[in-house]
Amino acid sequence: MPLTQTREISAASRLEKVRYAIRDLACVAAEVSKQGHKILPLNIGDPLNFDFQTPPHLIEAVYKAMRDGKNGYAPSSGITPALDAIRGEAARKGITNIQDVFVTSGVSESVDICLTALLNPGEDVLTPSPDYPLYSAVLAKLDIPLNTYYLNEEDGWQPDLDDIRRKLTPRTRGMVLINPNNPTGSVCSRKMLEDIAELARRHNLLLFADEIYDKLILDDDEHISLAAVAPDVPVVTFGGLSKNYLAPGWRIGWGIISGDSSQVKPYVDGVNKMLRARLCANHPEQYAIQPALEGPQDHLVEVRGKLRSRRDLTVKWCNSTPRVSCVPPRGAFYAYPRLDIPESDDVFVKELLLQRHVLAVHGSGFGEKPGTQHLRIVFLPDEKTLTAAYGGIADFMQARYGKSL
Ligand SMILES: Cc1ncc(COP(=O)(O)O)c(C=O)c1O
Repeated sequence: MPLTQTREISAASRLEKVRYAIRDLACVAAEVSKQGHKILPLNIGDPLNFDFQTPPHLIEAVYKAMRDGKNGYAPSSGITPALDAIRGEAARKGITNIQDVFVTSGVSESVDICLTALLNPGEDVLTPSPDYPLYSAVLAKLDIPLNTYYLNEEDGWQPDLDDIRRKLTPRTRGMVLINPNNPTGSVCSRKMLEDIAELARRHNLLLFADEIYDKLILDDDEHISLAAVAPDVPVVTFGGLSKNYLAPGWRIGWGIISGDSSQVKPYVDGVNKMLRARLCANHPEQYAIQPALEGPQDHLVEVRGKLRSRRDLTVKWCNSTPRVSCVPPRGAFYAYPRLDIPESDDVFVKELLLQRHVLAVHGSGFGEKPGTQHLRIVFLPDEKTLTAAYGGIADFMQARYGKSL
């Protein structure tokens, strides 16, 4: 006989704040496909689900590492050839004053470690709205309240500097910038980066520059690293193999801490404590970092070519469809069109999935200004799939709201 009656094991209440709309919607999609419908996926940013392949020389490097017995734990910061290659890449990006470099299980783990190493209870870090939900999930885990700044749709989704100034408090320790941006596809100008660096100087902020899409710039813009415009300012720059090198399943990311050495030293020590506590990142996969950063980059030409034409198709569709408008994305593989509809975008997205089997994510899953509705589109699928999906959305809107506004 048990001594006490069994009770439900409740999950921690702080998890109530964790949202991950991208994966949450996948449960509804699973139901729809169980009923035998083919889903048109515009939801998950995994290029390997579409006509993109990991460069073969990277696969060879990992395979060789495994055959060569690199299957034990790695050093906590990462293997030396990988760290050297990341430093070299940082130098090519114009990042100087590097104080530390480390490899993690994806940028996801870097973000987790770097926010954990910074924040005390009662402090906060500014995150963008809309944002990539990893940041708010980690902050929820740390019990840190969200303090979001708007990206300004009227200004091509650039950070709203006035809003940032309004949101800064004496307890604000840092600020996150995702550039190129998920979910909007925007790319920051040099002037914007300089203005952000100036704010950081004035308010003693640590900047987190998520540059995981830095090689996926779709037009002739130059990608400028935030750390490169401000060598004196403490910056953690995130990069990895998931997007630029088409290997998200390997879970390889990294962080580069730059800035004045005496200013960042205690923080670097804290990050390294966390790195040691979780032992190491995936070991054999780290052997792909050096060939990725120093070897042939041919795949990028093909990837950018495909993305450019899929972006163009997406923008053309948005601009020719009633109730839809879109700031043209300039980097990554996301578009964030605005919907002029008389209902919330989460209802829209769910009904679209149930009725037309098109899966996109609602703007409210990323954050948006009150009274606005958006859709995040991943334009990784080929033109045929995109055309079918956009046709489905247009038909759905016409049936639901009538022909015109
Ligand atoms: C802006 C951004 N940061 C980080 C990540 C996670 O990257 P990783 O696969 O390296 O964990 C993603 C994945 O979509 C992303 O869009």
